[in-house]
Amino acid sequence: MKEIKIGFVTVSDRASRGEYEDLGGPAMQEWISKALTSKWTPVAKVIEDEQSLIETTLKELADEEQCDLILTTGGTGPAKRDVTPEATAEVCDKILDGFAEQMRAVSLQYVPTAILSRQIAGTRGACLIINLPGKPSAISECLEAVFPAVPYCIDLIEGAYLETDDSFVKAFRPKHAKKPN
Ligand code: MTE
Repeated sequence: MKEIKIGFVTVSDRASRGEYEDLGGPAMQEWISKALTSKWTPVAKVIEDEQSLIETTLKELADEEQCDLILTTGGTGPAKRDVTPEATAEVCDKILDGFAEQMRAVSLQYVPTAILSRQIAGTRGACLIINLPGKPSAISECLEAVFPAVPYCIDLIEGAYLETDDSFVKAFRPKHAKKPN
């Protein structure tokens, strides 16, 4: 079976300059370590809010590192420097609107400002890319909302087979879905 690789991209001018600690990257990794029972390898990056740099980083993680999943945090809002969704759209072959719809709908139960996030998700080859807001609490709120559909999505794009800890998050696969040998 293919080894599972997951990319974690913190998009933040201040965190990349070391002006404050990157809390988002570790928060994403911690959530994934609770969610997955399969063995996986992280590839983490902390970068500035520069569209071309975000695009290059996403392409490198998807194409060279062969990540099955990339989570980004930050840069999804309406501020001038927020360009993560634009960069993600640019590198994806297909946009999966349902992810963003669900993340914002669930996030609205926590904060009215959830509608300020322009987060998207999409696929590039055999890699699923999901944008998350920058706030650490938003990371778990959004991942809880969409992760049940993530393993089967990655099956469909011919990435690795992800198994989850059902007591933390239960992945949904249709009955006919087969586990590879
Ligand atoms: N979503 C959840 N679940 N929880 C939150 O606290 N904060 C919102 C929104 N989405 C939030 C959320 C706020 S205040 C903003 S500005 C946007 O995400 C964009 O955040 P970003 O620019 O850090 O990506």
